[in-house]
Amino acid sequence: MTFDVVVAHDLNRGIGINNTLPWRCPPDMAHFKTLTTGTSDALSTVIMGRNTWASLPEAFRPLPKRNNIIVSNTLSDLPGALVAPSLNEALLLANPSSNIFVIGGAQLYAEALAHEGCDTLHVTKIFKRCDCDTFFPDYLDRFKCTYASNIWITPTANCAFFQFKPF
Ligand SMILES: NC(=O)c1ccc[n+]([C@@H]2O[C@H](COP(=O)([O-])OP(=O)(O)OC[C@H]3O[C@@H](n4cnc5c(N)ncnc54)[C@H](OP(=O)(O)O)[C@@H]3O)[C@@H](O)[C@H]2O)c1
Repeated sequence: MTFDVVVAHDLNRGIGINNTLPWRCPPDMAHFKTLTTGTSDALSTVIMGRNTWASLPEAFRPLPKRNNIIVSNTLSDLPGALVAPSLNEALLLANPSSNIFVIGGAQLYAEALAHEGCDTLHVTKIFKRCDCDTFFPDYLDRFKCTYASNIWITPTANCAFFQFKPF
């Protein structure tokens, strides 16, 4: 079973601080919602680690119009979401005909990038150097860029969207 990875990282590959996002970037939020919600009949699946689930404001979890699967060995039950003890178990719970997205955080990304099912990385590059305590793994030795968008200019953070495929 294949899946995609979705991440926004800064110029140092930083992705988070204090279990939240280090920047405010409305175009990236819109891109994330459009990409992971999709338009096909089957609901998309988003797979995330326990900390990323906890980082979502309660009003936004589970992420609407998507099947939410949380990877955790300490949680057993969550309202509106499935819980799986590993990425492989999460993939087994996902609808195989849905689009499947691994959406973070760092611990889950590390396993996802090394997984044979990892098909595409959707990377938003944030053109800033932010104070971060959580980082996306180095990937340029394993993935090649297949798409790059124009740059979006915003008052708080400029960004661009990229896709990468495994070599
Ligand atoms: N910029 C972005 O695109 C982006 C996206 C997502 C998150 N983030 C940021 O990333 C940070 C959170 O990342 P994080 O690395 O601390 O946490 P995380 O990966 O979201 O969650 C870690 C927890 O999830 C479970 N887990 C994760 N990977 C696992 C695996 N391979 N096998 C089994 N269990 C696994 C474990 O839960 P148990 O301890 O319960 O077993 C682990 O303690 C936050 O700052 C968040 O805002 C940024």
